Amino acid sequence: MVAVLTERLTKVYNNNTAAVDNISFSVEDGEIFGFLGPNGAGKSTTIMILTTLLKPTSGKAFVSGYDVDKQPSKVRANIGYVSQDIAIDEYLTGKENLILQGKLNHIPKNLLNHNIEEALQLVELKERANDIVGTYSGGMRKRLDIASGLINKPKVLFLDEPTLGLDIHTRHRIWDYINKINNEYGMTIFLTTHYMEEADKLCNRIGIIDHGKIKVLGNTSELKQKVGSGVIILKLMHYYEKENFDKFIVKIKDLHDVDDVRHTDMYLIVSTKEGRTLIPRIFDLSDTYNITISSISLKEPSLDDVFLAYTGKGLRDETGTAWTGMQTVERFRRARA
Ligand SMILES: Nc1ncnc2c1ncn2[C@@H]1O[C@H](COP(=O)(O)OP(=O)(O)OP(=O)(O)O)[C@@H](O)[C@H]1O
Ligand SMILES: [Mg+2]
Repeated sequence: MVAVLTERLTKVYNNNTAAVDNISFSVEDGEIFGFLGPNGAGKSTTIMILTTLLKPTSGKAFVSGYDVDKQPSKVRANIGYVSQDIAIDEYLTGKENLILQGKLNHIPKNLLNHNIEEALQLVELKERANDIVGTYSGGMRKRLDIASGLINKPKVLFLDEPTLGLDIHTRHRIWDYINKINNEYGMTIFLTTHYMEEADKLCNRIGIIDHGKIKVLGNTSELKQKVGSGVIILKLMHYYEKENFDKFIVKIKDLHDVDDVRHTDMYLIVSTKEGRTLIPRIFDLSDTYNITISSISLKEPSLDDVFLAYTGKGLRDETGTAWTGMQTVERFRRARA
């Protein structure tokens, strides 16, 4: 089944340029789908249309098979939504917030208690459930927010920037919860993020959105393979015959799938899309030419590279780029020189 489907979906605010511009994509049941894009790309606008909070200007969208425009209450009964901004009441306790959310969702009383307990357990807030939210840390508030999105046991959970502004430890915990929700309940997750690392760690498939348009859509690992700017970095022991070394370099350059080779006396940087299959062949060659490899590392293409390739620019992110490994080598080399 298709969990989310959009056809030429468009949203224009106040007759300005389109915030969401003619986008068509689908998300399969059970997927963790990531909508990745920089500030102002149109992520929240898309999510708000899919959750019936905003009417599209044109185009169609279906969630769990229901038309967001024509069957909004059916859509709402099947989804959970955690907005980009924390939407809980500071003056209530954690549990009271969830009860309120449950009532707003018309959850039968006999189910509500059970769902609340389960949600609190999942986000590890059981012990603090009877404390006023005003005493919670930012991470705890976000966790409670996620719990409130789960209260109706939705088929599709929409998370708009679930870890924005949280520290790395809390972010990892939230990733764990998201994976758990997906694995244990088989819930489809639609999340937006501008953190590459988040999309990379969590999502089976991603769509990259920029200026309201989808730039690329696909399976995360396939996308990385496509743009492929992986590098293998080799460190060599220096006691080799110069003649052998030159032949070794030539042979590596000749290997299938090698895009580029750069070297110094001690380091070799091999650019390739096929790092894993290339490494054993490089070892074979080093044997043939009596070159001793003292270390080898593989930096595979990242979503950063995918984003750069399709949008022509970087994305605010805390992780390094594909070239970090190489820059480290260069720095190391300069330090030794
Ligand atoms: N209510 C609104 N009225 C007018 N313009 C809006 C409104 N909401 C969003 N926009 C504009 O629409 C565009 C897309 O905004 P949106 O919030 O969907 O982006 P986003 O990808 O979620 O960004 P962020 O990463 O900052 O959350 C932006 O140019 C924004 O200024
Ligand atoms: Mg947003």
